[in-house]
Amino acid sequence: MIVNASGCLDALEAPEVARALDVFVTKTVTPQPREGNRPVRIAETDMGMLNSIGLENPGIGGLLQEKLPRLAELGVPLWVSVGGFAAGDYAELCAALDERPEVAAIELNLSCPNVEEAPESAAEIVAAARPQTRKTLYAKLSPAATDLPETARAVQAAGADGLSLVNTMRGLALDEKTLEPSLGHELGGYSGPGLKPIALAAVYQCYRATGMPIVGMGGIATGRDALEFLAAGASAIALGTILFADPDAPGRVRRELAEEISSRGLSGAEAATGLAHSSRPVTVA
Ligand SMILES: Cc1cc2nc3c(=O)[nH]c(=O)nc-3n(C[C@H](O)[C@H](O)[C@H](O)COP(=O)(O)O)c2cc1C
Repeated sequence: MIVNASGCLDALEAPEVARALDVFVTKTVTPQPREGNRPVRIAETDMGMLNSIGLENPGIGGLLQEKLPRLAELGVPLWVSVGGFAAGDYAELCAALDERPEVAAIELNLSCPNVEEAPESAAEIVAAARPQTRKTLYAKLSPAATDLPETARAVQAAGADGLSLVNTMRGLALDEKTLEPSLGHELGGYSGPGLKPIALAAVYQCYRATGMPIVGMGGIATGRDALEFLAAGASAIALGTILFADPDAPGRVRRELAEEISSRGLSGAEAATGLAHSSRPVTVA
């Protein structure tokens, strides 16, 4: 399954790109509308990009009234990414989405490096959100967690159904001439090819720790990258930064992945999931 990484595709602006995906994931929505951080909000780096968008979004009201009905017309299953500044925000957002048939699943963004973090732990947020919705809940985690497998186990115990791994990592780019921070917000979230080994490690470790369904992302640009995320333990992959450079990436990566899979004599993507663990059996407690 190929999805987009939250915040990396505007499906209403580029419906043909969204239709090439198996699922469209919205940009993170918060209880109230947000204008996001001041410009400059995107900077190029040698091995990827930095962004400090700061969760610009129309708020849950704007999403439910205006965007969701239009997104549903795309005919692609929808996941809504939600974010907040306290566990109660996540609970409120999940309750508001629970009754909406257009929403197939909810991704809890527990890891945006561009805004203040909720004071509660990831597991406490999942525990607050879980009773508010019957929908599938994915917990999106930061690769910067001190003990990521432990966090993954804790969100699983709190009721998450799957993991989205990983969000961006905090980074800094300096202006070539002034040597001052390139981004208006100074620090930003680092994404793209440089994130791939870190993201692969996160998927590998969390698969071993939990056995949960994992949406793997972080620098995926080719079918070979996608295959590696499946082998590490992902059951789906998300395309993020690559979509800015190559809007045809969903179809291309899908074709390349199919070639990678068939050239190895595998029956399909499911047969590739977890291959990196073949000689080290996974025992989930
Ligand atoms: C411009 C931009 C905006 C993003 N916005 C969000 C967001 O709203 N919510 C979220 O969970 N992740 C957001 N992300 C993180 C991506 O979903 C993804 O986790 C990250 O970019 C790693 O994947 P990639 O290297 O393929 O881009 C954003 C990333 C970028 C580059």
